[in-house]
Parts: sequence; C-alpha cells; structure tokens
Amino acid sequence: MVAYKSKVVERIQLPSRERREQALEEAGYNVFELAAEEVFIDLLTDSGTGAMSDEQWAALLRGDESYAGSRSFDELEAAVRDVMGFSRVVPTHQGRGAENVLYGALLSDGDVALNNTHFDTTRAHVANQGADPVDCPVDRAHDLTVDGSFKGNFSLDRAWSTVDEVGAERVPVVILTITNNSAAGQPVSVANTRRVREFADEIGATFVIDACRFAENAAFVGDREAEFSDATVAEIAREQLGYADALVMSGKKDGLVNAGGFVATDDDALFERCKQRAILYEGFPTYGGMSGRDVAAMAVGLREAVEEAYVADRLEQVRTFAELLDEAGVPIYTPPGGHAVYLDAASALPHVPPAEFPGQALVCALYREGGVRGVELGSFAFPDTDRPELVRLAIPRRTYHREHLEHVVETATTVLEERESVSGLEIVSEPENRELRHFTASLEPISN
Ligand code: F0G
Repeated sequence: MVAYKSKVVERIQLPSRERREQALEEAGYNVFELAAEEVFIDLLTDSGTGAMSDEQWAALLRGDESYAGSRSFDELEAAVRDVMGFSRVVPTHQGRGAENVLYGALLSDGDVALNNTHFDTTRAHVANQGADPVDCPVDRAHDLTVDGSFKGNFSLDRAWSTVDEVGAERVPVVILTITNNSAAGQPVSVANTRRVREFADEIGATFVIDACRFAENAAFVGDREAEFSDATVAEIAREQLGYADALVMSGKKDGLVNAGGFVATDDDALFERCKQRAILYEGFPTYGGMSGRDVAAMAVGLREAVEEAYVADRLEQVRTFAELLDEAGVPIYTPPGGHAVYLDAASALPHVPPAEFPGQALVCALYREGGVRGVELGSFAFPDTDRPELVRLAIPRRTYHREHLEHVVETATTVLEERESVSGLEIVSEPENRELRHFTASLEPISN
C-alpha cells in the first residue's frame, strides 16, 4: 500500500547514449567516478540518499545548534530510548564514526571479533584496532537460489569453532548485523538473536548489534517468525535490539536521514569510554559531528522508521522490484533483502569469466544501456574471496516510484538480450589497499 505523495521534486534526465559511453570511459569504467548528474536512476546505495518527510524538514528548522546541551540531542535520546530501548547515546557523524568509537573502546591488538558478516567499514574498523574480523554466516547465506526466511542469521557452529581455535579470552566482541548487508540484505530472526546473546554470555563477550536496518529486519520478523505474527514492527524492534549490550547505528539507513549515526548502550562504563573517544574523533557528546538540525531530523526519522505504513511500503517496493526482474528473466538472489535486489552477474553474463569481473561488466552495461547506477559486490570489490558475483541495486528510501524501477527492469532485460556485446574488464590502476579498490580503481574493456 502506497504511503506517500510527493511535495518536493528533483529533476532527473537520461543523458544521450553517446554521452553515457563517454562518461563511462572518462570514469575509468568505475561508476563511483561518475558525476551524479550523469546518472538517471541511482541505485548505488540506500545510505543517506533517501527523502525526508515534511516532519523531518520541519525538525531541521527547529534544530538547536548549541555546542553543548542541545535540545535536539534530548530529542534524539528520547527517540533512541522509545524506539530502540537504550538510555545512553553517543552521537557520531555517521555509522563508521560509531564503529570507530565503539570498537576502539572494546577491541585491542590480537583480539578476534565475530560477526554474521562484517560490512566493509566494520571489517576495516575491527582491523584498525589490530583485531581479526571473522565472519560467521550460515551456509545458505551465499546460496543465491535456496529459499530461506532468515539467510542473514549468525552461525553458532562457525562461532564456536573459532572460539575453540583461538580461545574465548581472545573474543571480546560478538556482532550481529541486521539486516545482513554483505549477505544480500537478508534478515536475522529473533530466535537467532537470542542464541547469539547466550553465546556471548557463555564466552563473556560484549554483544553488539549493528542496527543500520533494524526496522526492515523487524518487518521481516513479523512476516516470517511465527512467534511475532501479531506483534508490531515497533514491538519487534525493541525486543530484538534489547538483547544487545550496545548498538552501532548509521542514521543514513533506518534513521531516514542524509547524515548521522550513534552508539547506544545501557552500560554506564562503556558509555563513558565511548564518550571520551567521541570527543576525540567526533565532537562534543551532544552533537557528535552532526549539526543540531541533523540530530533533530534523525530523532524524527527513527520514530517514522518503525511506523507500519512506512516499513510495509518499503519492503513491498523492494519485493515488487525483485518480482519484476524475476518475471523478465533477470537472475537475482532470492529471496530479496530489505534494502536492495542483488543480481547474479555470473548467470547474467556467463561468457565473462570471473577474472574479467562479470559483476563490474554488468554494472557498466546497466549504465551504458539505461543510465542506471548499481554497485559490484563480487570479485572486483572483494579480491581473493570466493563471494558470488553480485551486483547490488539498492533502493533509496521514499525516493523512486514504480516507473523508475520499471525503467531499470527494461534496462536489465535489454542488457541480457544483448549480452554477447558485453565484454569483460581488466584493471588498469588500483590503490595500494586492494580491500577498498572498488571505490577508486580504473578499468578498461577487454577487446576480444
Ligand atoms: N554497517 C552496515 C551494515 C552498513 O551497511 C554501513 C554502510 C555501515 C555500517 C557504515 O555506515 O555509511 O553511515 O558510515 N553501508 C552503506 C552501503 C555505505 O552502501 O551499504 P555509514
């Protein structure tokens, strides 16, 4: 059921085919290098790219820009308490700022952090503390076609085998990422969350939930976990988050804002440590790298994120997009996640071998054909791993309509019909740190 109408609009246009060809070449076949105005439908990310509500825009004007003791911070604290159930909040400029603050307080050299799957910035911040990030996805997470309600779950078996290997004393942190962005945005059940809580207790670790997409996850739980079939999204969110000792949050996702993040906890000692780090890296603890108006807008956004109408509309849009792609014969990861549909590039372009980056070739072809921007999350983004060759089409919140997504489906269909004309790519330059190469590397088509 549609939950919005437009009050403000932004012009978009599809550049000519010649211009798209040229823009792609100038960008070194890396869509992060494209100017946004060269893009017609931008599905690069759902992070900070959504539309705010009229209530949020009103909150912006009321934002309190005081350096210390801002009223907007009080509103954020109240929203985090009501929506997420935590009393102590350390605001940060975005999610990775929260990761730096929290993981710097919890991890040190030689430690191991367990996570259903580390998102890139989480992995980098864990590693930055000298700790080893170990992923514990369930086996079915990277199976593109197997059905499953909670393919984002945390594997206790994998976690225990790591603990048996390294010793519980080396594992001070267990992280649960909901939804599991690096496993195609798949949800995590509350039953699994309870088991992770027990596991963390058994090994004496701090249990952190990466809550970026907590509202989407709660909606999946309501649909798929029998115990919660009558519960509201707001009730489920509080129940699930309540098992954690601390949250890291990027407001750019289910905070429904363009900037901001925070750490939340009920643990006074941990709060103190985070606060001190936040003063060093983010700002005074009542603004934390955000302007007061951003804090105010996030306070409103958090409450809107758990409204039934919002989250039902959100998941329905992603599901409909997946269905349209599937009906058109475009191979996708199933079931679709909460914030994105992931294309199976290896099946879409079987003639492009893994060494020639089929995912990136597909990303470029989607832009060339229809001005659509997605992101490769396969062997180009994750060198030396055996992840599937996925292309993520993330849907910004409350931004695009069915017509926009139909254009993407038509674009993908044409690319597949003319797949033989899509060639593989080779890297011509990449940064020293290969782990983050997909942001800045340049490529070139391989002419056969
Ligand atoms: N954790 C998860 C699960 C994320 O998806 C992200 C960001 C972060 C942490 C970091 O938050 O961007 O506010 O610093 N994900 C974006 C994406 C960038 O495109 O998936 P941030």
